Amino acid sequence: MESYKITKHKHDAIVIGAGGSGLRATMGLAQSKHSVACISKVFPTRSHTVAAQGGISGALGNMGEDDWRWHMYDTVKGSDWLGDQDSIEYMCKNAVESIIELEHFGVPFSRTEEGKIYQRPFGGMTTEYGKGIAQRTCAAADRTGHAILHTLYTQSLKNDVDFFIEYFVIDLVYQDDKCVGVLAWCLDDGTIHLFQSHIVILATGGYGRAYLSSTSAHTCTGDGNGMILRSGFPLQDMEFIQFHPTGIYGAGCLITEGARGEGGYLTNSDGERFMPKYAPNAKDLASRDVVSRAMQIEINEGRGVGEDKDHVLLHLEHLDDEIVHTKLPGIAETAKIFSGVDATKEPIPVIPTVHYNMGGTPTNFNTEVLADGAGRVVNGLMAIGEAACVSVHGANRLGSNSLLDLIVFGRSAAERACEILDKKSKNHVEVNPSSLDKILSRFDKIRNSSGDIRTAELRDKMQRAMQRYAPVYRDEETLQNGIDIMKNNFNDFNNLSVSDKSLIWNTDLVESLELNNLLYQSLATLYSAYNRTESRGSHAREDYPDRDDNDWLKHTMVWVDEKGESKFDYKPVELKTLTDEVETVALKARTY
Ligand code: FUM
Repeated sequence: MESYKITKHKHDAIVIGAGGSGLRATMGLAQSKHSVACISKVFPTRSHTVAAQGGISGALGNMGEDDWRWHMYDTVKGSDWLGDQDSIEYMCKNAVESIIELEHFGVPFSRTEEGKIYQRPFGGMTTEYGKGIAQRTCAAADRTGHAILHTLYTQSLKNDVDFFIEYFVIDLVYQDDKCVGVLAWCLDDGTIHLFQSHIVILATGGYGRAYLSSTSAHTCTGDGNGMILRSGFPLQDMEFIQFHPTGIYGAGCLITEGARGEGGYLTNSDGERFMPKYAPNAKDLASRDVVSRAMQIEINEGRGVGEDKDHVLLHLEHLDDEIVHTKLPGIAETAKIFSGVDATKEPIPVIPTVHYNMGGTPTNFNTEVLADGAGRVVNGLMAIGEAACVSVHGANRLGSNSLLDLIVFGRSAAERACEILDKKSKNHVEVNPSSLDKILSRFDKIRNSSGDIRTAELRDKMQRAMQRYAPVYRDEETLQNGIDIMKNNFNDFNNLSVSDKSLIWNTDLVESLELNNLLYQSLATLYSAYNRTESRGSHAREDYPDRDDNDWLKHTMVWVDEKGESKFDYKPVELKTLTDEVETVALKARTY
């Protein structure tokens, strides 16, 4: 192995990832005067949060009566009862304060006539425990993620955060069972860096790019989850992949649910508005799992549109042009560019598209990473955002609860990290060189791979297999085929060909490291989906069509080792709430 010179840095805390949750945590730590480094493989304002369109949920009640308990009830129900109720209570109760705080940081929210934050309806968000439709999703037109991300970045700069931008984290560093930092590669000058810290916070996002058609950015490769599996820790609930009902047909780009919130609706090849058949009350604003499954049934039963009858249509052309231009300007532009459609005149061709990972790195509601189903905490390691599974979304996330999750748990991670740091000595341990050698030898091996398969070729095989064998509807045979194929892909990584051996802006090597992370997570998803013999939320098993609370009201914990073999454990769903303020909500939500 080549000997790599290592540059050393020491901080109280390190945040990996500069999306919404990473920046909120970074900013919180910096405000409390702790030394914090934020390491990101992309420029912060290019993180995937920038793509979030429709909004952030919170029971502000600006456009009609609302209550955080109703929000909690919707979230528990939307999660198909797999969400942990302590975490959900924490998120919904803290939503209003966290959003007002964002407003004060400078997020340019759209406004009502009276100057309050504008709120739109979103799928599954109701009033009075399911009786009415709530207007709960706070929006900055259809560019809410963009507005939040830019604001948090400027706030972080104001608080003197040490940013390490375009650094790729190779792996986590442990000493005596405690996470003590990370080893990273600077893409710009090819140098290797050891970042030591008392706390590492993973905010590395989801792994949407395991699939061929996804609303996620190409950078969404779940690098933190890959590191967790390589560390010998499990991932949680990886079988639950959310398909967003309205990805643009052929391109996969997102058309926000806000479009249906503003009055848009779906039709099939008969011109029939089909959602009332599947969800008579919520119709086109039912939760995403319900709408995506309904679309897939229409397509499977021959009522899809187009030459191949493989998609449906989203109508906005009946809306006032003014609404499209002021409330949905981004999607009007996206529809024009990616499907050649003027949304004010013609319907947009859409198809369910991979959008979000409910599963990820298990944490308690304090955002500390868990090592097993018994809830043992990994010292020094926290996780937030889509990378984490604090399990506020359970088996299915409600639209606009993601930005909320990022902000609420980004903020609480900073608070928890400060509590831990305040009790610690400021001295850093001496890292054992053998831990670094192990990480560098894997890096060096991948860099010098000289096999037969190009990274792009193997990635394409993986993405096509996930698309085909882990789709909206699954069964035992499809999933078993998927596992067999993915194990071959996993093993083929040892026969990779990386042609660029340099260390400076070597995108071939970056993509290979990302591919390795994706392969681990693809296997974790397929194994977990095969293992869960029931249907719940986004996990629709044709051979087990019913939810089975007797056997499966529990979280999956899955390990995948370096040979691609799996191991399982389970964690009970937390049905107890944090306070007795919501006893009735919990009881209502427990009525199956
Ligand atoms: O449809 C959307 O705007 C997406 C929002 C979300 O995933 O939360």
